[in-house]
Amino acid sequence: MNILLLGSGGREHALAWALSASPLTARLICAPGNAGIAQIAECVALDVGNHEAVIAFCRQNAVDFVVIGPEAPLVAGLVDDLEAAGIKAFGPSQWAARLEGSKGFTKDLCKANNIPTAAYQRFKQAGPAKEYVRAKGAPIVVKADGLAAGKGVVVAETVAEAEAAIDMMFGSGPGGAPASTPTSTPAWEIVIEDCLVGEEASFFALCDGETALPLASAQDHKRAFDGDKGPNTGGMGAYSPAPVMTDEITRRTMDEIVTPTLRAMKAIGAPYKGVLFAGLMITAQGPQLIEYNVRFGDPECQVLMLRLMSDLLPALIAARDGQLRNFDLRWYPRAALTVVMAANGYPGDYEKGSVIGGLAQAAGLPDVEIFHAGTKLSDGKIVANGGRVLDVCGTGSTIREAQQRAYAAIDAIDWPGGFCRRDIGWRAIARDIAKR
Ligand code: AMP
Ligand code: GLY
Repeated sequence: MNILLLGSGGREHALAWALSASPLTARLICAPGNAGIAQIAECVALDVGNHEAVIAFCRQNAVDFVVIGPEAPLVAGLVDDLEAAGIKAFGPSQWAARLEGSKGFTKDLCKANNIPTAAYQRFKQAGPAKEYVRAKGAPIVVKADGLAAGKGVVVAETVAEAEAAIDMMFGSGPGGAPASTPTSTPAWEIVIEDCLVGEEASFFALCDGETALPLASAQDHKRAFDGDKGPNTGGMGAYSPAPVMTDEITRRTMDEIVTPTLRAMKAIGAPYKGVLFAGLMITAQGPQLIEYNVRFGDPECQVLMLRLMSDLLPALIAARDGQLRNFDLRWYPRAALTVVMAANGYPGDYEKGSVIGGLAQAAGLPDVEIFHAGTKLSDGKIVANGGRVLDVCGTGSTIREAQQRAYAAIDAIDWPGGFCRRDIGWRAIARDIAKR
């Protein structure tokens, strides 16, 4: 089969790595890809926002199946347009992608279906939102409704902080001046919700509209610096399995959150196909939904692909075809851990173009895999081309062993322009030690 994969991050490199290993794959094309993906797939430039151009490209290249990595094309309805043109695609329809595209939609769906999530209210104006915050008190969470690349959420420790977040999200500072960062376009609606307390985990299920097949468990680290301190990022590292996802918590997540969501989506005429990513808070009462994403997590996908023993491609096709009922996935028992190397300054301003050395030597170390997240080839050298630049992964019999291998590889990489956290996996390792 000829496969077109859309995206350019570490998630897409990991997907390309798994797809290229499939005996069913004849040709793997990635748009736009990156320097790492270019080693295993043909990379092409394609304007993903131009659905007609994507369809024309698929026809010219006899593409049999399109795999979409990031959320934006899904929320923009690319799957609907491809399918209408007779081209099979993995991912939810635009209608179903509202699970990520609109926090208000998801919160209302949870409420209507008794899916455990933080108590909330939706607001279209700053005044009533601030009144609600003052009545509720802090800590409290303020969220912009639309896609905000992980930057539309403020966990406010004080009422004043929450009020400032409300002003910022409605597009005006306290003096009525236009807000700059993090949301440059004014949110037309915000959600304010209670602050949940517990440990976060990322839960993934492959869905075919009716059936959900849970993937292996994973956790990521969202904060930029060691000790889970500093600003929120897209994720600075991840590992699988996640010890917090016990069999009991996994079962409850499926029964109380994922299965009722699939049932509800089908009932409203928007059956969910693709990978459903539930961001969970594991509280004293059990799993609660923080948010849904309609794609694989990045960097969680990287560690999942390293543990997946089954061929990924038939699984994605079965999800698209509505054939997951009798499907099964096999996983290696080994642990996998990835450390993100980011450009100095990330998640704030950072420079592009610094040269990365030592990659081949690092990748040659035992049980190490390096996925590129934001790189390009320039004058024969690999240079940084994004905020998150490399995902350095290790595998081993324990998370600790996987961690040691990942950091051994990082120590072999020569890149003064970048930094990483030195403590990825600390929670899981602490649990392991406590158990012994
Ligand atoms: P989101 O973009 O919704 O994933 O939110 C980003 C981060 O904000 C999450 O990973 C959590 O760490 C935090 N967060 C979001 N909602 C809540 C909540 N209701 N309670 C506590 N933390 C939250
Ligand atoms: N790592 C979390 C995300 O992909 O949103």
